[in-house]
Amino acid sequence: MSTRIIALAAGKGKRMNSKLPKVLHGIAGKSMLKHVLDTAGPLTEKAPIVVHGLDGDLLKSAICRSDIDWVLQAEQLGTGHAVRQTIHLLDDSDLALILCADMPLIRTASLRKLIDRANEESFSILTVVPDNPFGYGRVLRNSQGYIDRIVETFDLKYSQTSVTECNTGIFALRASMLKRWLPQLNKNNAQSEFYLTDCVALASSEGVNVSPILVSDPKEGMGVNNKKQLAFAERVYQRQLAEELMEAGVTLVDPDRVDVRGSLVCGKDVTIDVNVIFEGDVNIGDGVYVGPNNVIKDSDILENSTIKANCVLESVFVGSESKVGPFSRLRSGTALSEKTVVGNFVEIKKASIGEGSKVNHLSYIGDAELGSNVNIGAGTITCNFDGANKHKTVLEDDVFVGSNSELVAPVRVGAGSTVGAGTTVTKDVEGEQLVVSRVSQKHIPGWRRPSKDGSDSSLPNATQNKTRK
Ligand code: UD1
Ligand code: CA
Repeated sequence: MSTRIIALAAGKGKRMNSKLPKVLHGIAGKSMLKHVLDTAGPLTEKAPIVVHGLDGDLLKSAICRSDIDWVLQAEQLGTGHAVRQTIHLLDDSDLALILCADMPLIRTASLRKLIDRANEESFSILTVVPDNPFGYGRVLRNSQGYIDRIVETFDLKYSQTSVTECNTGIFALRASMLKRWLPQLNKNNAQSEFYLTDCVALASSEGVNVSPILVSDPKEGMGVNNKKQLAFAERVYQRQLAEELMEAGVTLVDPDRVDVRGSLVCGKDVTIDVNVIFEGDVNIGDGVYVGPNNVIKDSDILENSTIKANCVLESVFVGSESKVGPFSRLRSGTALSEKTVVGNFVEIKKASIGEGSKVNHLSYIGDAELGSNVNIGAGTITCNFDGANKHKTVLEDDVFVGSNSELVAPVRVGAGSTVGAGTTVTKDVEGEQLVVSRVSQKHIPGWRRPSKDGSDSSLPNATQNKTRK
């Protein structure tokens, strides 16, 4: 029997109060639908089926996979109706694994257990005992412990409200049975929907045993229907990731104050301070310290480097033993070699910074190539944009740029040259030179600053100041 995944994703998700389809809301930066498909992925070779509503194009472009059988459920008439739309794709010999796409925390191991049981007994359901069972279908067992019926929250009789075991919505059963039972469902219930859960009563009436598999951690079996549950699921997921990092030897100063929205791979003796967000693929080498309040996306940080507080790094390579921050913004295409220093209020974009070079304060370096041991003084700007095109600045090895300088690209400064403070470099500079374009300094002895009563009017520039007022 081969397993066929059916992910239900057509529900309107009214309780989310959002224009975005419910299953595209994210946990750790990844849509709930993608979580569910990724979790179930290892269980079968067969293409998964996803049931979508009229917003299917949004789902297709978000998931972006060519191997999915997308099936439209034009009207959302319930979970049973949703599965019914897929039966033409099922072989009788398939084992259907039906998943709700609003269950992002479910784990592969639990799904595997469910499938193994269904292979033996033909129909099994994952159940959960949630902290608050409101909204879930209650599982009524028979004297042998099999599931006799599932009763939805709005159809509960008072005597059934004490039942704590609930349906996760995840079923594994033979496709031949689905084909037999789905056409028999009706809408005689509180929500006037075709409930998939009514297949259980049909199974019992035919003497088919429906085995419950209880997930031990109730959080794993939670469905996400509103923003409160979404936020809760996010925290649960983040805590799990934090625990995995700590088990791998990472020091998290506070495991509840780190968020990983993607993949984070850390070497040995990495310390991550509070309020750090990792996005996309981030790789961190041995002995790296990431200070508080950093946002690091799709970047590699090599061993023994330090990212001080309050930096934003996106698509950046940081060589070993480098120091970044506090308050640095490193944008896409920034590559720092080893032992570099990038400091306070520095923005770097699409630039390579050679070994041992320093950009310590208040600078913008864009579209640039800096050799090794270059020193950039405070307030230096590469003027890379002429209003239409971007141009490159090249500073060769051992260049020293004095503070408050402008490098008007395209421009190259040769190795060992010095740019005097306040210089605007507009032409290429040979190596081993001093270049200064500063206005020469004037001295006006006895000059007094303007005052309100005009007593300074004897001096020409003071008069000017006065008339300007
Ligand atoms: C469902 C179950 C309930 C279970 C709970 C677990 C039914 C009738 N109820 O209730 O027993 O305890 O999940 O979280 O099955 N969907 C469609 N088309 C539809 C309706 C729903 O594709 O016409 C999809 C939704 O996108 C969602 C899933 O089916 O992914 C479940 O639907 P939802 O409305 O969230 O069901 P619940 O009320 O949570
Ligand atoms: Ca649900």
